[in-house]
Amino acid sequence: MEKRRLRSKLLTMLISIVFLDVAFSGLVATMASPRVAAMFSFGDSLTDNGNNNYLNSLAKANYDPYGVDFGHGFASGRFSNGKTIIDYLGDFLGIPSLPPYANPAATRRSILQGVNYASASAGILEETGRNLGERISFRQQVENFASNLYILKYKMEEEQLSEYLKKSLALVIMGSNDYINNYLLTSLYATSYIYTPTTYTDILIEQYMGQILALYSLGLRKFFLAGIGPLGCIPNQLANNFVPPGNCASLANDMAVMYNTQLRSLVTQLNRNYTDAIFVYGNTYGAVSDILSNANSYGFTVTDRGCCGIGRNQGQITCLPFSAPCINRDQHVFWDAFHPTQAANKILAEKAYSGPPSDCYPMNVKQMAEI
Ligand SMILES: *[C@@H]1O[C@H](CO)[C@@H](O)[C@H](O)[C@H]1NC(C)=O
Repeated sequence: MEKRRLRSKLLTMLISIVFLDVAFSGLVATMASPRVAAMFSFGDSLTDNGNNNYLNSLAKANYDPYGVDFGHGFASGRFSNGKTIIDYLGDFLGIPSLPPYANPAATRRSILQGVNYASASAGILEETGRNLGERISFRQQVENFASNLYILKYKMEEEQLSEYLKKSLALVIMGSNDYINNYLLTSLYATSYIYTPTTYTDILIEQYMGQILALYSLGLRKFFLAGIGPLGCIPNQLANNFVPPGNCASLANDMAVMYNTQLRSLVTQLNRNYTDAIFVYGNTYGAVSDILSNANSYGFTVTDRGCCGIGRNQGQITCLPFSAPCINRDQHVFWDAFHPTQAANKILAEKAYSGPPSDCYPMNVKQMAEI
């Protein structure tokens, strides 16, 4: 009697395991066999794809001519003329366009292959970007990810969920605003009076590490952690600092280098301490500098002016509603006062996806996805 019951119980368990497995792989198979289970994007306006549309913020891009080269000239809230780095990485990995977290339709099935939590003007520090209104800080983005896990818990068994998270990719492109919409904005923020650049950067890295470890505790195991670009070379910094042609604003660049040095060393430590996970450092600074100094070989002719913007370097005031953008958008590195064109985003995504260790350390996104 006992034996039969046990056997029947085992059989039921076996059947349900097989069934769940078939159901889950069936679901994944219908999605054109992507290289990762899902992509979760955390970041700022470089990767926001519509979250700020739902906020009371000046940092929005849901108006013409944003998105002029995106499908049918659709201003989705992306801060570019077309696709972002996340869109291109999704293309390379076989993941469909991620729903923005704030979109009410971003529930159930639509979030199974990932969600974009990024918010324009947001940073690592809570206060960063407050000059532009509401935004979703890195800490809040991580909390939003955690709350979405509850939805997934209804869809998957515990073990399945843990496998799914292990096979997923966390992409963090964050930190620029903690400088340009905080420390370097000395008229509106006190941080530069309180902290030396080194201390400030220490604080950023410490908080950043806390959020990465929170994502790790929630089950994520593959991380792409992008450094920040040469902030002193964006049209807005060139314009604000009256930078002569051919140069970049040195303070902003020095701070970016300082941040990146620390982030890279954090990545080394994380890889050493958490051996069941992979942390990749993305050398955004090197990649953008390479594009700027070898512009011609990448097909760019304009590197120090926005394609859509007003004033010096077309970067004093960023791209306003119904401004006329330049025609040769593929020849511009910068779309507006702050953000790259989709042509530049494509190159940056290619470097992240399949670049050499000088772009992605200790491996690239493609290699990380294959593990
Ligand atoms: C890694 O471990 C070392 C030694 O225990 C510790 O000092 C360091 O803070 C840890 N770093 C991270 C990022 O976990």
